[in-house]
Amino acid sequence: MSAGPYERHVFVCLNERDPDHPRGCCAASGSRDIHARLKELSKERGLRHSVRVNKAGCLDTCERGPSIVVYPENVWYGGVTLGDVEEIVESHLVNGLPVERLRV
Ligand code: FES
Repeated sequence: MSAGPYERHVFVCLNERDPDHPRGCCAASGSRDIHARLKELSKERGLRHSVRVNKAGCLDTCERGPSIVVYPENVWYGGVTLGDVEEIVESHLVNGLPVERLRV
């Protein structure tokens, strides 16, 4: 089996629910902006051909969202804010060191 074209995939939950839904949703806590910033910074850091940032549906960690998972490491992040994105890109996507304080 050959390796795929990317070293890493980053999935960002963009799921939207009604405002009164008991589980809430990542879209309501800013995941669209987080996704856009992840794409922007990944491109700026020259990761365009090695890291793929994808939109995802519900990752089932809604209560701890906004939720992100990075493969192949299987690292899950929760409660991510826009201000955390640069650290995720620099530490994890560029240098291979997951951001421990954001792991769930
Ligand atoms: S709504 Fe984002 S993990 Fe469920």
